[in-house]
Amino acid sequence: MAKSHASFVCQNCGAVAQRWQGRCEACGAWNTIAEESASSGIGARATQGARKGRVFGLSHLHEEDQPAPPRVTTGIGELDRVTGGGFVPGSVLLLGGEPGIGKSTLLIQACAALAASGRRVVYISGEEAVDQIRLRALRLGLAASPVELAAETSVEDIVATLSHGKRPSLIVIDSIQTMWTDLIEATPGTVSQVRGAAQALIRFAKTTGAAVILVGHVTKDGQIAGPRVVEHMVDAVISFEGEGGQNFRILRAVKNRFGPAGEIGVFEMTGRGLAEVLNPSALFLSSRDTTAPGAAVFAGMEGTRPLLVEIQALVAPSPLGTPRRAVVGWDNARLAMVVAVLEAHAGVKLGQCDIYLNVAGGLRVGEPAADLAAAAALVSSLSGLSLAADSVYFGEIALSGAIRPVAHGLVRLKEAAKLGFCRATIPLGAPENAETPLRDLNVQSCAHISGLVTKIAAGNSQSGKSRG
Ligand code: TYD
Ligand code: MG
Repeated sequence: MAKSHASFVCQNCGAVAQRWQGRCEACGAWNTIAEESASSGIGARATQGARKGRVFGLSHLHEEDQPAPPRVTTGIGELDRVTGGGFVPGSVLLLGGEPGIGKSTLLIQACAALAASGRRVVYISGEEAVDQIRLRALRLGLAASPVELAAETSVEDIVATLSHGKRPSLIVIDSIQTMWTDLIEATPGTVSQVRGAAQALIRFAKTTGAAVILVGHVTKDGQIAGPRVVEHMVDAVISFEGEGGQNFRILRAVKNRFGPAGEIGVFEMTGRGLAEVLNPSALFLSSRDTTAPGAAVFAGMEGTRPLLVEIQALVAPSPLGTPRRAVVGWDNARLAMVVAVLEAHAGVKLGQCDIYLNVAGGLRVGEPAADLAAAAALVSSLSGLSLAADSVYFGEIALSGAIRPVAHGLVRLKEAAKLGFCRATIPLGAPENAETPLRDLNVQSCAHISGLVTKIAAGNSQSGKSRG
C-alpha cells in the first residue's frame, strides 16, 4: 500500500508544493494552495497492485480512406467558426470564462440550435436547477426546444445515464468545477476532483463518440481550480471574454486540435441572449471620436479574420518621479518597447510623461502588428495633432526603429477599404494597391519610425477624402 500523506496543490495551476505557502511559486497566484490527499489520485490505484500489461495493436500513419472528421454544426456562424467548422464527434471542448460572462447562455442557445436539427442534445448543470434552466430558455425564446436537461454532479451517474438510449451528439457539462467522481476523495472544485472528473468525461466522449463541452469558470482569486488544469487534456480550449459594462463578448479559440487556434467569434449580449455580430469592425469603430488627438485605427487580424480597432493613447506630463504607465487590452512590455524606440530613434520625448494606452471596445490585441498604430496614437497625443480619421495603421516596430512587414497585409487593407477608409500607413514591402477594392485606398509605406513622426508632424492631420 502506498503511504498516505498530504500534498499541497495550487488550485490555479496545479503545481505541487512540499508545504503550505501563501503564494504559488509556479504561477505567482496568492492564496491558492490547498491540501489534498496524495493517495487519492487516480494514479494511486496503480501502486497498490501491479497489473500485467495488455498487448494492443498498432496502426499506421498512412491509413487509407481516412475521412476528415465529420462535424456537428450549430448554425450559429460565429460559434462554428471558432470551433473550426463545428464540434467534432468524440472530442472534448473546454469553454472557459469568468462567471456571468454568458457561457451558460451561449451553450443553451447552441444546444437548442442543434436539437432543432433532430440531434440528441443533453445539457447537464451542476450549478442551476432544471427549473432555472427552463426559465432562462423561456427568456431566450427556446422553451419549446427538445434539449434534454438534468441537474447532476456525479460523473459516474452521468456516464451511466448517458450510456443508455440513442447516443447524444452533444453533451454540455456546466460546469466541470461542480462535478465529482467517486474515485477521488477530495471536495468538488479542487484540482484532483476537476482532473478526475474531466478524465472520466473525456474517456466517455472517446468511447461513445459524443462531443462533450466542459464549462470552466476562471476566477482571479483561485477559490476554485482554474480550467487551466484540464487544458492539456481536452481537444480544444475556447475562452469567452468581455469587458465589464460592455455588451460584446469575444469567443476565442486558444487551442484547437481540429482547427486553427486564434480564431474569434464576436457576440453581443442582448435582452434575448447572445446575438452574432456579423461586422465586428464596424461595431468596434462605431462610437469613436474622429477629431480627438491620440487615437489611431489599427488594421488587425484575429485568426483568419481582419478586425479594425481603435487604439487610444493619452500622454501627459507626469507630476510623479516615476511616470505612470497603464495599458488596457495590449501588452505592457510592448508599450515600453515602442516608447523606448520612439525616444531613441525618433527623438520623441516621452520619458517624463504619464502614458495610458487603451484598445477601445474591450478587445485584447496580441499582435506585434499593432506597434505602428500604438506609436501613431502616442505621437498624436503628445503633439496634440489628431490623425486623419480615414487612416489605418499596421506594422511591427523593431528595436532599431525599422518598421517591419507583417502577415496578411492585403486582407487588412481590403477590410479597411470595405469600411470606407481612404489611407493606410504600412511597412515597406507590403502589398501594392493594385487590386480593385484597394484603388480608393491611398497606401503609404513607411520604412522607419522617424518617417511616421515626420508624417504626423507634417499634417497627416488634415483629412483627405471623407469617409464614404
Ligand atoms: P450566464 O450565461 O449565466 O453566465 P455564465 O454561465 O458564464 O456564468 O450569463 C449571465 C449574465 O448574462 C447575466 O448577468 C445576465 C445576462 N443575460 C442577458 O443579458 N440576457 C439574456 O438573455 C440572458 C439569458 C442573460
Ligand atoms: Mg453558468
